[in-house]
Amino acid sequence: MRALVGTIGSALVGCQGPQSMLESAGPEAAAIVKLWWVLFGIGLLVLLVVTSLLLIGCFRSYQAHPQPTSHRGLGRALVIGTLATIFLLLVMLVGTYESSQPFAGEPDDAITIEVTGKRWWWAVSYLNEDGDRLFETANEIHIPAGVPVRLRLLSDNVIHSLWVPKLGGKVDLVPGRTNYLWLQADQPGIYRGQCAEFCGIQHAKMSLFVIASPAKDFADWTLAQQRAAEDPEGALARRGRDVFVNAACAKCHTIRGISSVSRIGPDLTHLASRQSLAAGTLPNRRGHLGGWIADPQSAKPGNLMPAVPLVAEDFHALLHYLETLE
Ligand code: CUA
Repeated sequence: MRALVGTIGSALVGCQGPQSMLESAGPEAAAIVKLWWVLFGIGLLVLLVVTSLLLIGCFRSYQAHPQPTSHRGLGRALVIGTLATIFLLLVMLVGTYESSQPFAGEPDDAITIEVTGKRWWWAVSYLNEDGDRLFETANEIHIPAGVPVRLRLLSDNVIHSLWVPKLGGKVDLVPGRTNYLWLQADQPGIYRGQCAEFCGIQHAKMSLFVIASPAKDFADWTLAQQRAAEDPEGALARRGRDVFVNAACAKCHTIRGISSVSRIGPDLTHLASRQSLAAGTLPNRRGHLGGWIADPQSAKPGNLMPAVPLVAEDFHALLHYLETLE
């Protein structure tokens, strides 16, 4: 009994929290949650009816009823059962079609953000009207609140799936294919998302945040992100910049204005303005950043970042410099 209560309790607790699809925060997610309740209701109804009929049958055979002399009752039951099944499937079909309607017509002026599934993080590129890349960030999708945005989904490795449960459904990122997902957040806020397709040993640590802001704040953020990193002030930060460029860091990471050799790892131009490190694995604080650089394989084994041996002074300077990248 205790196990049953525990199971039901934890299942109900799982219905709440930062990634609950039952607490929708946008029109697409609202349509999905409505459909979810309809399907849940139909499933519950079918379960109750079938279980009741089964119990009645068991009870009757227990009472040793005589064998029926005709099959007329059986034929009627088959017809009713078949018609009821067809009716319920039609209700589900219409409901599913209806729930896909909020973004069926594509608004012309919606902004397009390109999201690429990496091993195991998200590259997020903002495009202009011609489809050219304005700037890139990682593991955070900033959007204006109250308007739909279109996400263009790509992958350059295996299949991932982008799912922000409070804002919409999930769509796969498939190598060699371009998929689209519409999202809209009705209110400003931070909405957690997660890769929803098993993609390797760090699939679970491949999360992201959708940050919805008022239009003015979003415009300010976009302008700030477009700026290249400024030349650092102070000897310690300048030493940190040189460590970044001359050690292995710049071989994988870009800091626009400083070094744009490679795009293997996340763009770090505005690293300090982000919520998390390593795709939601760690909060973006100095201690975690230091631990991550010193030993990236212990927090997220199997990821592509190697530990880079640095003397203590260089390590301290690098950390200080990265913290200036607002
Ligand atoms: Cu990416 Cu699972």
